[in-house]
Amino acid sequence: MNREQISEIAHSNHPIKAPLDDESVRRLLDRALPRGDERVLDLGCGSGEWLLRALAAEPLVRAEGVDISPEGLALAGKAARERGVEERLTLHRTEAAAFTSPHPFDLVLSVGSTHAFGGLLPTLAAARAHLAPGGRVIIGDGFWERTPSPEAVDMLGEFADLATTVDRIAADGWTPVEGHVSSRAELDAYEWSNWGSLASWALDHPDDPDSSQVLATAGTRRSEWLRTYRETWGFVTLVLRRTPGR
Ligand SMILES: C[S@@+](CC[C@H](N)C(=O)[O-])C[C@H]1O[C@@H](n2cnc3c(N)ncnc32)[C@H](O)[C@@H]1O
Repeated sequence: MNREQISEIAHSNHPIKAPLDDESVRRLLDRALPRGDERVLDLGCGSGEWLLRALAAEPLVRAEGVDISPEGLALAGKAARERGVEERLTLHRTEAAAFTSPHPFDLVLSVGSTHAFGGLLPTLAAARAHLAPGGRVIIGDGFWERTPSPEAVDMLGEFADLATTVDRIAADGWTPVEGHVSSRAELDAYEWSNWGSLASWALDHPDDPDSSQVLATAGTRRSEWLRTYRETWGFVTLVLRRTPGR
């Protein structure tokens, strides 16, 4: 089983692939779609859940999602048909950094996908290149709540603390107009759901040749979370507008 397949099973009970609950997602989208007829782009859309919720909430919104995962995009297409929004959703299977479009977007999202661009500021530079005048960005990325262990940095990568993260974004010419720091309950719910869903799949498919490998992976990842980064890693999601004159 490849990484994408494992990821899809892990997220099967938490379709937003980031540690935010439904109300947090709703509030951020509401703040990012002030007109209700926006053109929206998600760079690293996964199974498209942010876009699907925007389309369901706003009947005049049109959306495009970009991802390299065929599994994620297939789920997004299926869910769009089931929710009756497929005519307003276009999916692109391509590297997010290579995506081009003939038109700009009023809202550009990238939540939990900054690795696709090599970090937070390169992701914002890419978002800016797609943004219409007056447009907004929803960006979600990790930060360190406390000083991490070297193992946590090895596992999750380089982040800054929350204040430094937001300062860097502001210095790059963005003004946060809404924000959400994932609560301990949201962070825990996300991890329990991921590793629990993976373990459940293995227990429900004892005869599958991948079953024991998947169960072992679920246990390893749960232990890495509890032992290595639960106490130090956080997640922030911001709605941004360009700062005048920048
Ligand atoms: C943690 S998931 C977040 C998905 C979605 N933004 C969400 O919040 O539900 C990260 C996504 O980034 C995608 N991804 C990783 N590298 C990418 C790349 N180079 N280009 C496009 N997508 C990429 C993965 O396939 C995955 O779907």
